[in-house]
Amino acid sequence: MTVHFIGAGPGAADLLTLRGRDLIAASAVCLYAGSLIPEGVLSHCPAGCRLVNTAPMSLDEIIAEISAAHAAGQDVARLHSGDLSIWSAMGEQLRRLRDLGIPYDLTPGVPSFAAAAAALGVELTLPGLAQSVVLTRTEGRATQMPERETLAAFGATGATLALHLSIHLIEKLVAELAPFYGADCPVAVVWRASWPDQRIIRATLATLAASVPAEVERTALILVGPSLAQEGFEESRLYAGDYDRRYRPVGTHPRFPGTGS
Ligand SMILES: C[S@@+](CC[C@H](N)C(=O)[O-])C[C@H]1O[C@@H](n2cnc3c(N)ncnc32)[C@H](O)[C@@H]1O
Repeated sequence: MTVHFIGAGPGAADLLTLRGRDLIAASAVCLYAGSLIPEGVLSHCPAGCRLVNTAPMSLDEIIAEISAAHAAGQDVARLHSGDLSIWSAMGEQLRRLRDLGIPYDLTPGVPSFAAAAAALGVELTLPGLAQSVVLTRTEGRATQMPERETLAAFGATGATLALHLSIHLIEKLVAELAPFYGADCPVAVVWRASWPDQRIIRATLATLAASVPAEVERTALILVGPSLAQEGFEESRLYAGDYDRRYRPVGTHPRFPGTGS
C-alpha cells in the first residue's frame, strides 16, 4: 500500500502527468481538495473508487482516512492542485506518515503559474528584462509571512512576480510594488487558468484595482513585471549566429573544437 501524492495540475483534466493519471486510475481511494480540484480531474478515478473531499476536513481526519486505507491495504491517490512543492500543505501530511510508517511517493504536477503564463502566451524570463521569477503570496487569515519575505524585498529585484493567494489584496500589493516597478508596469490576472471558464485580465499597476471584477476571486494568479509586455527585450545569445557554443562551433578558434554534432 502506498499513498501517492499527486500534483493534479491547474484544473484541466488533461494537464496531468501520465504518471499522475495512471496512479489515480490504479488507486482505490482518492483524497482531493474540492475547492481547487475540478471534477474533470476526478474522471481518471476507477469505478467504485472511494472519493473523499478533504476541503472540510482537519489534518487529523485526513490522516485517519489514510490510516484506514493503509489498514485495508488500499492505495491512496492524494491530489493537490498545481504542483506539490508549493502551498499544498503536503509537508505536514508527509511528517505524519513518516511517524506512522506509512509509505508514500510524490508525482509533480503543472503549477498554476506555468498554466497562467501559457494562457497569456508569455515567457516570464526575457533577456534584459527579467531573469528570475518569484513565486510568492501575501499574508492570509491562516498564514503570516516570514518577516523578510516582503513584496518590497522581492520588488527591489525587478524580477517577474507570480503572486498566489493574493487577489483579495490588490490595493495593498499595488501600493507596495508601484515604487519599484512604476505605475505603468504591465500586470496580468489569470483566473482559473485552464478551467473551461478561464478569464484573463491585462492591466497596469495603476489600472489593476479598477480592472478586476468582484467575481474574479480566490483561484487567481497575478503576474507582475516588465516581461508581461513581451516587448523591449533582447534576443538570447544562445541562438545568436555568432555565438560560439559546444553544439554549434563558430569562428576560426572555436571554444569546443570538434564537439558539435
Ligand atoms: C493553495 S495555492 C496552490 C498552489 C498550487 N500548488 C500550484 O502549484 O500552483 C492556491 C493558489 O494557487 C493559485 N492557483 C491555483 N490554481 C489556479 C488556477 N487554475 N488558475 C489561477 N490560479 C491558480 C491561486 O493563486 C490560488 O489562490
